Amino acid sequence: MLRALVMTAHDVDLKIINAKVPFVSEIEPNNLVECGIAINDGLIEQVAKPDNLPKSDEVFDAKGMVVLPGLVDVHAHLRGLNLSYKEDFDTGTMAAVAGGITTVLDMQNTDPPTINPENLKAKKESAKSKIVADVGFFSSIPDDLINDLPKMIDLGIAGFKIYPLHPYTKYDIYDRDTVLEAFLKLSGCKLPICIHAIDVSSKSIKSKNKGALEQDFGSDEITNFLNKHPPELEASAVKFYSEIAISAGVHIHISHLSSLKSLEIFKLGLKHIRDKKNGLFKITADVSPHHLFLTKEELKRRGAFAKMVEPLRAKEDNDILWHALKCGTLNIVASEHAPHPKQEKEKSFSEAPSGVPNLETMLPMMYTEVLEGRLTYKRLIEVCSENPAKVFNLEKKGMIREGYFADLVVISNTNEKINPDNFFSKAKHSPFDGRIIKAKPYATFLRGVKVYEDGEILAKPGCGNIIRPFH
Ligand code: NCD
Ligand code: ZN
Repeated sequence: MLRALVMTAHDVDLKIINAKVPFVSEIEPNNLVECGIAINDGLIEQVAKPDNLPKSDEVFDAKGMVVLPGLVDVHAHLRGLNLSYKEDFDTGTMAAVAGGITTVLDMQNTDPPTINPENLKAKKESAKSKIVADVGFFSSIPDDLINDLPKMIDLGIAGFKIYPLHPYTKYDIYDRDTVLEAFLKLSGCKLPICIHAIDVSSKSIKSKNKGALEQDFGSDEITNFLNKHPPELEASAVKFYSEIAISAGVHIHISHLSSLKSLEIFKLGLKHIRDKKNGLFKITADVSPHHLFLTKEELKRRGAFAKMVEPLRAKEDNDILWHALKCGTLNIVASEHAPHPKQEKEKSFSEAPSGVPNLETMLPMMYTEVLEGRLTYKRLIEVCSENPAKVFNLEKKGMIREGYFADLVVISNTNEKINPDNFFSKAKHSPFDGRIIKAKPYATFLRGVKVYEDGEILAKPGCGNIIRPFH
């Protein structure tokens, strides 16, 4: 299994020794192998038993800790520019590497929003001297699609995002003809189109749903919020976009899929592909940690500190999402890190903004599932690192494999409560505040450079790269 390699003629930049690295398969999904990793020029050169590793002046002793591929987070709001009071590229990527995440794809809903080449350039310019993780950028579908698409591709966008609840361009609209027009224009470019699935056209379902929710929550702000975002409207949007994507032959990626109802519609899309009717149509989806671990009961307990869109759902939704994640139906876990200052979250429930930070809690929460036997190493790595890199075409990312980037996270066991006061993120609160975690990142390497160790950021600002998908 390990390669006792061909003599390496030269010394390498860094060796990680005494590591446990997952060598997993269908038959052995939890197989950890004691070995070392040789790193040169930012790439993994060799994974082998210590005696077979080349020489290196620099050695990191993992002291028996598990080393995983750095996580690839395909949904984070790093903010910056005029929203840097909420989060900036330095604090957001510091939070990422402290959370074991080495690659982050940033969302478009910033100020100024990422909607055209000029704004994207300004964002990249601001980010490049600050980031300590690798970062890619999503954009809204630009208004001037014909002229701007080649420029956006040239600038390396990771994909598009559609968000009809807060429209940024004319394509953030819930209108079949307009969306089809956009999808047809995008069909050749092979970039995923992320969908915040929300049907803004229907009012009827809201009132139909009202009775049941009021029984649960009482007639208050929280009930109104849940009434505004029922699972039915999410599912109806998944159907709406899937059908248009099938007609146009594009890849849509459903962001933070949160409910049983949406999952059922999503599966119809997968069936369409299995039946080989798809042409160029492709559908993938991610789920966020809060939709796996928390129910809407948490909203009653924590109020706005557990407010996000899509909102928390029922226990049966959590359970079915876990099942879909474990059996391979859902592809990815993404943080949906959406930071807002504590003071903004302390406003009344209706006034407080939606969104919760997650960069520093995602891996500890997911890894605790592995330690408690509910998730395999194999699936953890697939949904947090490997699949995100594959779905978004990020080259040499997401796996511990020779020739891949040495993006690595070393994990230590612990038994402590999540404490948002310790976050590097500017958003020092969390709906996971006080939850017990059994593991956390001890050290993080980005392309072979140790960027985080034992609670401290070691990286120089700007050491992260702005990345682009591989076509
Ligand atoms: C996001 C944010 O804060 O930017 N909030 C959220 O609740 N998810 C916006 C979004 O992605 O919908
Ligand atoms: Zn988001």
